[in-house]
Amino acid sequence: MSKPSHILNVLKQALITFTTTKHKAESFPLNLEALIALLDKTTAEHVNFPRQFLNPQLWEHPDKAPVSCIELFEDDHLTMGIFILKPNGKLPLHNHPQMHGLIKVIAGQVKIVSYSLNTDKTQEVDNKSFQDSTAPMPFKPKAGNYSIVTAELNEITIAGVNSPPCVLEPNYKNLHEIQSLNEPAAFLDILAPPYGYSDADYDSRKCSYYNKLSQVSSDVFRLQEIRSPLWYWTDSHPYTGPDLYEAGLSN
Ligand SMILES: [Fe+2]
Repeated sequence: MSKPSHILNVLKQALITFTTTKHKAESFPLNLEALIALLDKTTAEHVNFPRQFLNPQLWEHPDKAPVSCIELFEDDHLTMGIFILKPNGKLPLHNHPQMHGLIKVIAGQVKIVSYSLNTDKTQEVDNKSFQDSTAPMPFKPKAGNYSIVTAELNEITIAGVNSPPCVLEPNYKNLHEIQSLNEPAAFLDILAPPYGYSDADYDSRKCSYYNKLSQVSSDVFRLQEIRSPLWYWTDSHPYTGPDLYEAGLSN
């Protein structure tokens, strides 16, 4: 039998880490650490990343989506995919409700700006706003159906192919904006559990987009939930790397 591919090992470790039956509190940190270590070694070659995406001219075509996606794997526990951004392209600020996320850059460089909700600082700001408010209503005002949240800026990171994976958690760095720098950039993305698409879990794990509404202090902001921006859309391309579905079958 041939040796399993590196990317298959990454997926198997992700399934061990995030599959609920094996997702035991005591083993989760060690499993996550093993996943991060494997992901850290992952390169464009491991997923047979199509090099044509690195050609800036490809992105100049007026009909080309600013972001391309390659889906590697999806089941009820996690999704694994590649996002490719045009030069100076952007994934709008968005959230990952109740999810873990791991990002490993495999081409170019990205700037990741991360925020957290419900931190000590945001709660302090919200409590103060509530006390100062004369209106007898809780904070968390709604603008139409779009909420306003208070978020703490955690980190602005520049990540390239030699950078360690970036990790987000349900309660830490759960919102981010990702921007490519002067050339196309690509990153492998693992999300667990996936965003909710069925009626049962759509509301609890819906991807929401945000705009910065105002700055409350040096690192606390109010963010306004918005519709997906018109400038942001994606196209998808087939995965051509090593087979991965045997991991799901044997899990
Ligand atoms: Fe994200």
